[in-house]
Amino acid sequence: MVESYDRIHGRLTGIQRIKLFLPPTPVIPKWKAFIRVLNSIPNDQKVEMVMAKMTEHKFINTEHSASIVVDMLELTNRYVTTYPDDSEVVALQRVPDYLKVVENGALLHDVGKLNVPINVLKKGELTNEERMIIQKHPQNAVDIFGKVKYLQTLLVIALSHQEKWDGTGYPNKLKEKEIPLLGRLFAIIDVWDALTTVRAYRVDKPAWTPEDAIAHIKDQSGKYFDPTIVTLFVKMYEEKQLLIQKSLEDDKTGN
Ligand SMILES: [Fe+2]
Repeated sequence: MVESYDRIHGRLTGIQRIKLFLPPTPVIPKWKAFIRVLNSIPNDQKVEMVMAKMTEHKFINTEHSASIVVDMLELTNRYVTTYPDDSEVVALQRVPDYLKVVENGALLHDVGKLNVPINVLKKGELTNEERMIIQKHPQNAVDIFGKVKYLQTLLVIALSHQEKWDGTGYPNKLKEKEIPLLGRLFAIIDVWDALTTVRAYRVDKPAWTPEDAIAHIKDQSGKYFDPTIVTLFVKMYEEKQLLIQKSLEDDKTGN
């Protein structure tokens, strides 16, 4: 925690890096009172309280959040069972109640958008300045909530979900496995959800079909996304499709 991120960057993997991703930044003055409230309530209520704040800011849709969490838990579980000896998996499993960390981390992935004006979040075409404001949202999460001890571990997804496998993402331009496992997993879930649902910043455009979204994710394998995780995600999608088909056929035949 005291070492600078740059100095130790690359020498540690996965969950070990979580704390190192959280530089000791000052709490933004307007959040001080809220942080005081968070620190005074039990840990299991902190996430609910932050979610309530996100809902108040009107960028959160609880239905989307639920499907994001379900998909993220399933993908994480598939990764963990497929690669049990992977050093990041081993480290992740050492975290107490790690599936809860995954769940709450997924729920709070865009918590840094609390510091982005709602009119910017809902805008389609952005100016360069507005884009820069939006691109601060991963770091905002840490700047605002990194001081709340219980939330620190949950912020790894918030800080790393916009990084890209080829190093062209933000905020730290991390590359390949420099990006924490949970960030690499969540990046696909986030893009899948963004493409297959109607978003506030493009209400006039229909959501993509699942087939088109899958084709896009495959196309971005090795560019935006970790190729290993793309393979797992595509398999997960295909298996779900088979289940849906089967239940539709069962409905027809009355089984
Ligand atoms: Fe985001």
